[in-house]
Amino acid sequence: MRMEKKEKSILDYETVSLDLEHHALVIIDQTQLPGKIEMLSLTDIKDIWEAIRLLKVRGAPAIGVAAAAGIYLAAEKIHTEDTQVFYSEFQQAKKYLATSRPTAVNLFWALDRMENVVRTHLTESVAKIQSLLQKEAVRIHDEDIEVCRKIGEYALELVKPGDGLLTHCNAGQLATVKYGTATAPMYLGMERGYDFHIFTDETRPLLQGARLTASELHAAGMDVTLICDNMSASVMKKGLVQAVFVGCDRVAANGDTANKIGTSVVACVAKQYGVPLYVCAPTSTIDMTLETGEEIPIEERDPEEITEMWYQARMAPESVKVYNPCFDVTDHDLITAIITEKGIARPPYRQAFEKMLQVTP
Ligand code: MRU
Repeated sequence: MRMEKKEKSILDYETVSLDLEHHALVIIDQTQLPGKIEMLSLTDIKDIWEAIRLLKVRGAPAIGVAAAAGIYLAAEKIHTEDTQVFYSEFQQAKKYLATSRPTAVNLFWALDRMENVVRTHLTESVAKIQSLLQKEAVRIHDEDIEVCRKIGEYALELVKPGDGLLTHCNAGQLATVKYGTATAPMYLGMERGYDFHIFTDETRPLLQGARLTASELHAAGMDVTLICDNMSASVMKKGLVQAVFVGCDRVAANGDTANKIGTSVVACVAKQYGVPLYVCAPTSTIDMTLETGEEIPIEERDPEEITEMWYQARMAPESVKVYNPCFDVTDHDLITAIITEKGIARPPYRQAFEKMLQVTP
């Protein structure tokens, strides 16, 4: 019997994973999407650094998973039986990976979690520490799936079947291991017949909304409509959007949230038209060491991303001044609620986070 050959979709591949047999980090090269699905198998720390830097793997949770795998693979290659020598080389590798991108706190969170494994087992052999690091990297990967699913469950409580939902950038499966954060209610809603109408902003300059979010939601069979970044007011004014769900790269203690550039514009528009804006945030993205969003380091990227990237020809005059901050901070008073895997935080956020994370002020 001849089996009908079904084309593989982007959702059939894991965004980011650790290939233990080949000692490699395996990622979908997101700079090639939507044109080509290319899997990269990376073993060298420099290649992993570059993959994060060049957005081959991107989105805060996926960056954390990649960094954990990367530091494990680097630690595996440290050939010494002296634990102190091992620790010092581990710290150098950690420092190096930490320079790949500045805004998503999940990068530092994952690296700190890995270092903690080393620090608390310094009396053990190097081989034992290496095996514990492997387990921790796998745990960080696996936990991400459950964290996103829980965010999706909480988020689903806030909407109803048939709603119009808007999202910005890609906080989807391509930014995590599975489900995404902002897209988790969309995937769970689809399984439960919610029939959402989803709008995704194209997200200039690197078009994560058009290239990634539209691709994955379309592949999942959802009703997704791509709009330009300057159209969010138009769809909200027409009453086509009942809720906005966005991801985030770092949340300060007061609830100010850094996410892809343009998120704060969407938040202002949502407020104007009375549409609730929900930030979907794994608790690993909450940075209680920062009082407000003003302290969040905002990455600035190459001007060429605006003047020529993704196009054959230049799109702007030579040597024109360019400003290209990669993220912006949405003020906490524009955010209706922050949805984590531990529940829904509502203002005042500091108190809600302290309760959720059980930190003593
Ligand atoms: O520059 P990127 O593509 O890494 O930016 C990603 C975002 O802004 C996402 O919305 C954010 O990381 C949350 S991903 C769940």
